[in-house]
Amino acid sequence: MCSPHAMFVMSLKGALSQKTFSRFWCHAQRRFYSANAIKMSAWQVYEYGGLDQLSLSTTARAATIKHPTEMLVKIHAASINPLDIRMMAGYGRNLLNVMRKQRDTLNHGTEFPLTLGRDFSGTVVEVGRRITRFKVGDEVWGAIGAFRPGTHAEYTLTSQSEISKKPSNLTHVEAASVPYVAATTWAALKTVGQLDHTKVHGQRILVLAGSGGIGTFAIQLAKAWGMHVTTTCSSDAAELVASLGADDVIDYTRTQVWSELQHREKFEYILDPLGGEVTDKAAKFLSPWKNSKLITLNFPLLKNSDEMGVVPGLFKSAISAGFATLKGLQSGGSVRWAAFNPNGQALDTVRRLVEQDKIRPVVQKVYPFLEAQSAYKTVNEGHLRGKVVLDLKPA
Ligand SMILES: NC(=O)c1ccc[n+]([C@@H]2O[C@H](COP(=O)([O-])OP(=O)(O)OC[C@H]3O[C@@H](n4cnc5c(N)ncnc54)[C@H](OP(=O)(O)O)[C@@H]3O)[C@@H](O)[C@H]2O)c1
Repeated sequence: MCSPHAMFVMSLKGALSQKTFSRFWCHAQRRFYSANAIKMSAWQVYEYGGLDQLSLSTTARAATIKHPTEMLVKIHAASINPLDIRMMAGYGRNLLNVMRKQRDTLNHGTEFPLTLGRDFSGTVVEVGRRITRFKVGDEVWGAIGAFRPGTHAEYTLTSQSEISKKPSNLTHVEAASVPYVAATTWAALKTVGQLDHTKVHGQRILVLAGSGGIGTFAIQLAKAWGMHVTTTCSSDAAELVASLGADDVIDYTRTQVWSELQHREKFEYILDPLGGEVTDKAAKFLSPWKNSKLITLNFPLLKNSDEMGVVPGLFKSAISAGFATLKGLQSGGSVRWAAFNPNGQALDTVRRLVEQDKIRPVVQKVYPFLEAQSAYKTVNEGHLRGKVVLDLKPA
């Protein structure tokens, strides 16, 4: 027996051509879902610019599940990353708008109002039909694609491939500090750097800028894999990075990093969040014998497509990748770029390491959700020691 609803849809399908029916059906579903969308508070920007663009909307609408592989999560905490400040100024807009269009995440043809924020810790409140790994009520952590409306809001839409179960030994605030830096470090070392963690015990890695969000996570991940970690940071952060397991700490404010490195053995891996001339200088310290790799997070694709348009930007980035490879070959190793990529499976592994106390969150400061403007200011000022997190728990 067909329901009256199914009979109505079938007779409509018969009466209209396939194309007209699909258009009508998409439109009707969108109207239905937006009318039923949850109202929420979200920090948003209405045009690109500085920190003063950020404003709190209490009538924002949570994105609704449009695909059976999506789910809705109520956010309890979310971190702020340097990427959020850059996206507020328009970073990545050209390429991201192409992705938003493809993934149907634009609002009536525009990215505004734009909600920033990439990672979160929260509870699943609704699941699409094809979600198999999660159910309503699960506590999860994750980092979502940059094409999605962000996590500095009460709800976010996500998918199975972007999230994982939250570590049981962390609070939501602690958990929210990890997913974005974890997914980025994973993309750099495992996906791009092809590091096999079962074979790197005792190998040497240089983690540049060890005191920030990426550095504090990367040091601990490399130590969990049994690597020997050298890192750079300023004087006041030396104790912190040593407490995370760094074996050799170079204070870049008191010594000349490149002359210090002359006295050390060379490295199988270098993780470079700084980019620019640092990449060229650091590449000289790759070990020439062991298929060594420098991975830089100074990924030029979004910047090039902002400046030149998407296609010329892709072209220029491909040429720059060729030059970087040549420079790497001169040093006897390989120089590669990496960028953040959502990765729920990587978070599964990281969760186990956190639950085994091999990785701990490093949170510099927690701000209540309503004080997000101060939190963004702190991130914008730099010199971070770990992460800045927004707590959405009601005061
Ligand atoms: N491509 C991607 O997808 C991607 C993803 C994540 C991050 N990134 C990039 O990676 C960089 C780091 O990210 P993050 O989240 O770790 O930033 P962060 O939390 O702001 O940390 C940066 C850290 O670097 C330190 N620092 C600055 N200059 C340094 C130097 N010359 N030598 C050693 N340390 C230095 C800073 O402290 P002091 O200034 O006090 O020394 C701070 O602790 C950012 O530029 C970000 O854009 C790229």
